[in-house]
Amino acid sequence: MSVLEKMTSQDAIALEDKYGAHNYHPLPVVLSRGEGVYVWDVEGKRYYDFLSAYSAVNQGHCHPKIVEAMTQQAKTLTLTSRAFYNDMLGTYEKYVTETFGFDKLLPMNTGAEAVETALKVCRKWAYEEKGIPENDAKIVVCENNFHGRTTTIISFSNDPVARKNFGPYTTGFVKIAYDNLEALEKALSENDNIAGFLVEPIQGEAGVYVPSEGYLTKAKALCEKYNVLFIADEVQTGIARTGKMLAVDHENVQPDILILGKALSGGAYPVSAVLANDAVMGVIRPGNHGSTFGGNPVAAAVGMAALEVVKEEQLAQNAHRLGELFREKMNAFIANCSIVTKVRGKGLLNAILINDTEDSSTAWDICMALKENGLLAKPTHGNIIRFAPPLVMNEEQLLECVSIITSTLKMFDN
Ligand SMILES: Cc1ncc(COP(=O)(O)O)c(C=O)c1O
Repeated sequence: MSVLEKMTSQDAIALEDKYGAHNYHPLPVVLSRGEGVYVWDVEGKRYYDFLSAYSAVNQGHCHPKIVEAMTQQAKTLTLTSRAFYNDMLGTYEKYVTETFGFDKLLPMNTGAEAVETALKVCRKWAYEEKGIPENDAKIVVCENNFHGRTTTIISFSNDPVARKNFGPYTTGFVKIAYDNLEALEKALSENDNIAGFLVEPIQGEAGVYVPSEGYLTKAKALCEKYNVLFIADEVQTGIARTGKMLAVDHENVQPDILILGKALSGGAYPVSAVLANDAVMGVIRPGNHGSTFGGNPVAAAVGMAALEVVKEEQLAQNAHRLGELFREKMNAFIANCSIVTKVRGKGLLNAILINDTEDSSTAWDICMALKENGLLAKPTHGNIIRFAPPLVMNEEQLLECVSIITSTLKMFDN
């Protein structure tokens, strides 16, 4: 078959199966087009996207302003490397640092790279500013975290599938329970060599765990008390997803290091960033860190357009309003059913807990049925289904989605 011939879903799945590494287990749907809150498969069937590429497509698929910025810049200058200056990067860095209230930005491409960058910045700060003896720095992380897939990051994951047989692991991490201030204070007080505390303001991959109110504020205060950097991984929660520009904004917390990715490009291009003030980012000097593509002109143009869309279209406000409505409707449904035990989340980052064991296939089967009914979502872990539609959704669309979800769930209620 010529690559230009129209392919069926079956053909596309067979090709990936034969020629691609099996490092994912996708739902059997083959998408070929996206616009706003919708995606279409190769047979032309339309679906609501309720995953948004793990919260990268907050601004909706193929947002015209982002596509325009990207194509214009792609026709002008795509890559210079950081061996030379380009006329987009500084403007982008000014825009993003002003948006989030930091002195400096370090541009990278993927979320995992940005997390790695933050860890390196934190360690270097520990040795050069805090005075921790070289190679002794420790970074506190949380149980059930998800920060990406590099060797160092999986070293402090507790997901056996992500870890097993990828050792030897990177040392220098202390793992504590999430949403547990006593555990944090214990870790900070017991060891003088703690450099940072890396935390997701809401644990997305783990199943949308929202910590208790006040957790982030108090964790930040503890970090200040022990002169430890508070590092917020907002790769999934950031850029309006939870109903504020950042999830830490719900508690007015300013991290020492902020990690962004995913929706920083609206899903159009891999763009990630680490932000910090001069006192921290100042430790990074020429040669310490970099990336051929990090800070390229297309990424800069796309990143600015993506953030402008979020502000102009008031996506944080929309996520907040529709999130409340979604949980209200789901709670009303849950009151009269036994298949779902709980809905939780903030803004438009939500999850439902299916009333079955973690190793059951029920959540997967529900997602398959949702697909048949025109809505795409995926289980996070076992019996938890995450719901994260693009933030450009309107109320009418959300209500239609609630109706698809509840009528599908009813099929599994007994
Ligand atoms: C909180 C968090 N950090 C980091 C990452 C890694 O991002 P990427 O897949 O772009 O490397 C993810 C991805 O889901 C994430 O949710």
